[in-house]
Amino acid sequence: MAKGREKMKILGIETSCDETAAAVVENGTKVLSNVVASSVEVHKKYGGIVPEQAAREQLKSILPVISESLEQAKTKLIDIDAIAVTVGPGLLGSLLVGVETAKTFAYVLKKPIVPVNHLHGHIYGCWVDSEKVPEFPAIVLIVSGGHTELVLMEDHGKFKFIGGTRDDAAGEAFDKTARLLGLGYPGGPAIAACAAQFPMTNDQLPINLPRPMIGSRDFDFSFSGLKTAVLREVQKQKEITEEFKIVMAYEIQEAITDVLVAKTESAVNFYLPKSVLVVGGVSANTALREKMQEKFENLFIPPIKYCTDNAAYIASCAFYNYKPVPWQKIIADPGLEI
Ligand code: KG4
Ligand code: ZN
Repeated sequence: MAKGREKMKILGIETSCDETAAAVVENGTKVLSNVVASSVEVHKKYGGIVPEQAAREQLKSILPVISESLEQAKTKLIDIDAIAVTVGPGLLGSLLVGVETAKTFAYVLKKPIVPVNHLHGHIYGCWVDSEKVPEFPAIVLIVSGGHTELVLMEDHGKFKFIGGTRDDAAGEAFDKTARLLGLGYPGGPAIAACAAQFPMTNDQLPINLPRPMIGSRDFDFSFSGLKTAVLREVQKQKEITEEFKIVMAYEIQEAITDVLVAKTESAVNFYLPKSVLVVGGVSANTALREKMQEKFENLFIPPIKYCTDNAAYIASCAFYNYKPVPWQKIIADPGLEI
């Protein structure tokens, strides 16, 4: 952090997927406002995100959401010190809405603009509103709808990818298996809610789902086999009962979280970091949070509202990695990597 920026107010804008979010954050941690509008209700009908619909909803929401976030922060656009915007990864149509809006503000108001990688943004959920911040080096597990990655973070902005999923992401595994069980979208919260009823039915015989790649000597993951195993169990049933759904939801959550914890533990044993961070939408999962808490001491998991997509962590990430670029150079990049 450069000197003299302690009171800096950054307007964060995040539109990478189905959430339209804007936030005003002071000094990288103090959240003056954090507004999120979601088009999830539109996508529920289809059992997953429809990119075209998501982009249209982004367009409808972007200005009202920004205006609301400035109002809540009691700040005028002209008094913002810089704009931070997610440039990728994500859905192109959705990303473009935030990116072009942010560029327009930067151009018209002559404000500095900082491009932010959505995955880096998730990590800064651990800095937002937080009194105790992680020490470096840190091992970071990013678990979201599109990503499952283990990263060695040596400093602000210094990330080394050490492993990731070879097929589906952890969030995707929740979403796809929830769909097989008819639990609706998004699957993570639906599986978690269903799994929470499990102790009531523990007279049921547990189904032992695989823990894919749990013992492999690398930091990679694979969740597509789990989806196939669930499909097989579903096909064996004459009728999908509530009891079956509860046992399966519990098993799915156990299988996914066991693998995430075991692989994070291998990375920690290998790199001996000073902190362990778990971020991204799936880090909102209570079972995962509890298992991680049992395992690691210097553990950081954002409060639930900063696990799923929001713009507070985008503003925070821009503060700690303050590298404004001319607005002409900012481009949406759906395939951006860590
Ligand atoms: O980070 P995020 O909000 O968006 C992306 O960047 O992808 O993550 C969304 C993912 C979805 O797959 C959703 O099912 C999952 O996070 N998720 C959860 C929970 N809440 C959201 N997975 C498990 N348990 C939850 N409580
Ligand atoms: Zn995300």
